[in-house]
Amino acid sequence: MTENSPTHLSQKEHWNGRAGQVWVETQDILDRLFKPFEDHLCEIVQTTNARNILDIGCGTGSTTHATAHVLEDRNGRCTGIDISGPMIEAAQKRTYAGKSRPHFINADAQSHPFRANSFDMLISRFGVMFFSNYVEAMSNLHRAATGNARLAFIAWRSPEANPFMTTAEKAAAPFLPQMPKREPGAPGQFAFAGQYRVADILKSSGWTNIDIQPIDVSCALTESDLMTYITHLGPLGLLLPGMTEEERSPALQSVRAAFDPFMDGTTARFTAACWMIQAQAS
Ligand SMILES: C[S@@+](CC[C@H](N)C(=O)[O-])C[C@H]1O[C@@H](n2cnc3c(N)ncnc32)[C@H](O)[C@@H]1O
Repeated sequence: MTENSPTHLSQKEHWNGRAGQVWVETQDILDRLFKPFEDHLCEIVQTTNARNILDIGCGTGSTTHATAHVLEDRNGRCTGIDISGPMIEAAQKRTYAGKSRPHFINADAQSHPFRANSFDMLISRFGVMFFSNYVEAMSNLHRAATGNARLAFIAWRSPEANPFMTTAEKAAAPFLPQMPKREPGAPGQFAFAGQYRVADILKSSGWTNIDIQPIDVSCALTESDLMTYITHLGPLGLLLPGMTEEERSPALQSVRAAFDPFMDGTTARFTAACWMIQAQAS
C-alpha cells in the first residue's frame, strides 16, 4: 500500500500529495476491499450507547458514513478527522441518505484542539499508525474523550503476517533501488504491529482496560482491481510516474507475476492479519 512515506516527506506532505490523490482515485476499490473492517467497527458501535463518535484518520470517509448510519436511530453524530485535504474533500462529496450527515475536519488529530470531553467513542480503520508522536496523539484524543468513552481501532499486524501487503515491494525492489526501506516502528502501515508497544502507548496516554485481539479477515480483489492496486497503491504507484516505459514494463510484469500464488481464477485472495484494539477512557 502507499502508506510508507518516502523519508524526505512529512506525513502531512505525504497524505496531501500523491498518496492522498491515489486513495481518492481508488476509493471504490479500497472501500470494497476494506468493507469487512468497517463492518467489524460498526458491530462494536452497535453494542454501545455511543452518540458522538470520532473517526480518526477517516480518509475518504466510508467508515465515517457507515458509522453515521448506525447512529441514525440514536440521533447521534459521527465526525471524521483527517490530515489529508484531498481525502477530506472526497469524504465531504459522498452522498449520504439519512438525516445525521457526518461532519469532517481537515486537521492533524495529534494536535487538533478538540473540545475536551466531547466524544463518547473514538474509532479508526487503519488511521492511527501515522502520528509523529503516538503518545502525544493518543493523549490528545484521550482529552477529547468523555470519561466513559470507548476506543476501538484496527491496525495491521506484522509485515511477515501480511505477505500480500509486501509482495509488490519485494518484487519491485530490484527495479527500484531508490524505494524507501520500511523502518520497524516508524510511522506507516506496520507501526502498530507490536501489540505490547501499542499497549504501552495507550497506557502512557491515559487509556485503560486495554484489550488487543488478533483478527484475520478474508479479502478479495478482482484481477483488474489488483492491477490498479499494483500500479497506484503499491510502492510502484509512487514511483511509476518517474519511470521510463522501458523500465516500467518489466517491473510491472515481475510484480504482477509475484501475485500468482494469491490468484484463485480471476480473483486475488488473501488474509489480512490485523489487531482489533479496544480501550476505555477511564
Ligand atoms: C491508511 S489510510 C486509512 C483511511 C481510512 N480510515 C480508511 O480506512 O479508508 C490512513 C489515513 O490516516 C490519515 N492520517 C495520517 N496521519 C494523520 C494525522 N496526524 N491526523 C489525521 N489523519 C491522519 C491519512 O491522511 C489517511 O487518510
